[in-house]
Amino acid sequence: MQIKKVGVIGAGQMGNGIAHVCALAGYDVGLYDVSKERIEAGLATINGNLARRVRSGKLSEAERDATLSRIKAVPAYEGFGDYDLVIESAVEDEQVKRKIYQALCPHLKPECLVGSNTSSISITRLAAATDRPEKFMGIHFMNPVPVMELVELIRGIATDEATFSVAKEFASSLKKTIAVSEDFPAFIVNRILLPMINEAIYTLYEGVGGVEAIDTAMKLGARHPMGPLELADFIGLDTCLSVMQVLHDGLADSKYRPCPLLVKYVEAGWLGRKTNRGFYDYRGETPIPTR
Ligand SMILES: NC(=O)c1ccc[n+]([C@@H]2O[C@H](COP(=O)([O-])OP(=O)(O)OC[C@H]3O[C@@H](n4cnc5c(N)ncnc54)[C@H](O)[C@@H]3O)[C@@H](O)[C@H]2O)c1
Repeated sequence: MQIKKVGVIGAGQMGNGIAHVCALAGYDVGLYDVSKERIEAGLATINGNLARRVRSGKLSEAERDATLSRIKAVPAYEGFGDYDLVIESAVEDEQVKRKIYQALCPHLKPECLVGSNTSSISITRLAAATDRPEKFMGIHFMNPVPVMELVELIRGIATDEATFSVAKEFASSLKKTIAVSEDFPAFIVNRILLPMINEAIYTLYEGVGGVEAIDTAMKLGARHPMGPLELADFIGLDTCLSVMQVLHDGLADSKYRPCPLLVKYVEAGWLGRKTNRGFYDYRGETPIPTR
C-alpha cells in the first residue's frame, strides 16, 4: 500500500510537528483538532517554523510554499474518507483517544492505516477500540518533531506485518531513524526518561535542590542538553503526569509513583511552556524558576 494522504488528529505541539514533517516529505496532510483555534494556531506554528528554516538557508521559499500548500485544515472526521494513514496525536488520555477512534473509523476507507502518537498507552488496548486492530500501530514521534531524529514503532498484539512494513517505510521517508519497541507501558524512551524526570521533581519536592540547581547539575554534571525540569516544562506537565500514571498502573510498582508536586502543578493548571508556567515562569523575558 502506498501512502499519499496523511491525516493528523490533534494540532497541538506534536500534531503540528507531525503535519510539518509529513508535508515537507511530500505527503498531502489534513489537520484536525476538536478546537478550531488550535488548528489555526497549529498552522501558524508550522508557518513560523518553516519561515525560520528559510531564514537559516535550510529551505528555499519555493519549498516552503509547496510544503504549506500540501497542508489543509480538515474540519470534521468525514473529511478523512480518502486518506491512507491517520495519525492520532490528541491529549494523552485513553478515554479521549478511544472516543476519537470510535467517531473517526466509520469514515475511513477500509484499507486506511491508523497510528497513535501516544507516549505511553497500550497500543493493543487502543487498537481494540478501533474497527481495524490489524491496521493499527504506535508511531511515536519525539519533540520537537522537525528536529528529533527518532520514531519509535510499536506493534499491538494484532498489528499485521503489512501494516508494520508500511509504517517503517513511512517513517524512513520522513528521514527518521526507527527504534522498535514492544508494547509495554511507555515503550523505550519514556520508560527511561520519565522516571528520571519524576525523580528530579522528587529531588525538588524533598528540598535536595532548587529548580535551577537541579537543571544546572544535570546539564553540566551529566551532559544533558536540557535540565530535567526544563524538559518537563517542554514536554508538558500534564503529559508527564499521564505517562507516570500509565507506568504506575501498568507495571504496579511503587517506584513509578508520580511525585505529589507534579500532581499539584497539573492541578494548578501550570502545565509548562504551553500555559506559560510550570517549573519556570515564562511570562517575562527570561524564564524564572517557580521554586
Ligand atoms: N509533548 C511531548 O513531548 C510528546 C512527545 C511524544 C508524544 N507525545 C504525545 O503526543 C500526543 C499529543 O501531545 P502534545 O504534546 O501535542 O499535547 P498538546 O496539549 O500540545 O496538544 C493536544 C491537542 O489535542 C487536542 N485534542 C483534545 N481532545 C481532542 C479530541 N477529542 N479530538 C481532537 N483533538 C483533541 C487539543 O485541542 C490539543 O490541541 C499525546 O498523546 C502525547 O503523549 C507528546
